[in-house]
Amino acid sequence: MLEIRDIDVGYGGLRVLQEFSIRIARERPAAVLGTNGAGKTTLCRTLSGLLPVRRGQILFDGEDVTALGSAERVRRGIVQVPEGRQVFPEMSVLDNLRLGAFVHGEPSREEIAEVHALFPILAERSRQNAGLLSGGEQQMLALGRALMTRPRLLILDEPSQGLAPKAVDQVGEAVRRIAARGVAILLVEQNLALAEMVAEHAFILETGRCVRDGPAAELLSGDALAKSYLGI
Ligand SMILES: Nc1ncnc2c1ncn2[C@@H]1O[C@H](COP(=O)(O)OP(=O)(O)OP(=O)(O)O)[C@@H](O)[C@H]1O
Ligand SMILES: [Mg+2]
Repeated sequence: MLEIRDIDVGYGGLRVLQEFSIRIARERPAAVLGTNGAGKTTLCRTLSGLLPVRRGQILFDGEDVTALGSAERVRRGIVQVPEGRQVFPEMSVLDNLRLGAFVHGEPSREEIAEVHALFPILAERSRQNAGLLSGGEQQMLALGRALMTRPRLLILDEPSQGLAPKAVDQVGEAVRRIAARGVAILLVEQNLALAEMVAEHAFILETGRCVRDGPAAELLSGDALAKSYLGI
């Protein structure tokens, strides 16, 4: 589904991702775990076509998408839920959802109903301004908005950020429901509990390099070395 081959990405003189390679299969939700500054957001933005690679290749369903712009990647189904959720606080919950459908034009009632079925809270609060939602609810809205874009691969940049453990659990449940609908998941996180909930395969990102990977159950729960990479 997604193959990242040996990419280098940086800012000016700063090299962030270095010879970074991972492969992700649709049926195995994946997590990339890294601490603050490891390069998580840089990876997400690179996959979305918002940052250029200096070296290496990104393949999506066997096609080279390295040179494609962000709009074309979204059309192909590479969709990101950005760090900090980025909902529009002064717009209604419903209008935030509608925005997600912009690539395909005005969303159908069915599409909105489907997202409402997945996240009932978004139906209940439909007319309210998104800024009035709690952090966890805003994350649901960000997920719902991304679903309106009809993703084939959903990239999640630290959805646990700023959330209490209970809200993190709810996000985990929501991501599992999305994965069960056949959407490939790449969760980029430092929250081990969320990664354990969602991922079948995990990669450890340390200062821009993938230093380990393996089945999430082994790598994240039992492995003291992996935990030491994450500083916990
Ligand atoms: N626009 C930028 N210009 C210059 N340096 C940047 C820029 N964005 C990020 N960096 C640097 O790149 C490195 C990786 O940043 P990145 O935001 O990808 O990390 P992160 O893993 O997402 O961290 P966090 O957990 O804090 O979100 C850091 O050293 C950061 O200071
Ligand atoms: Mg980040």
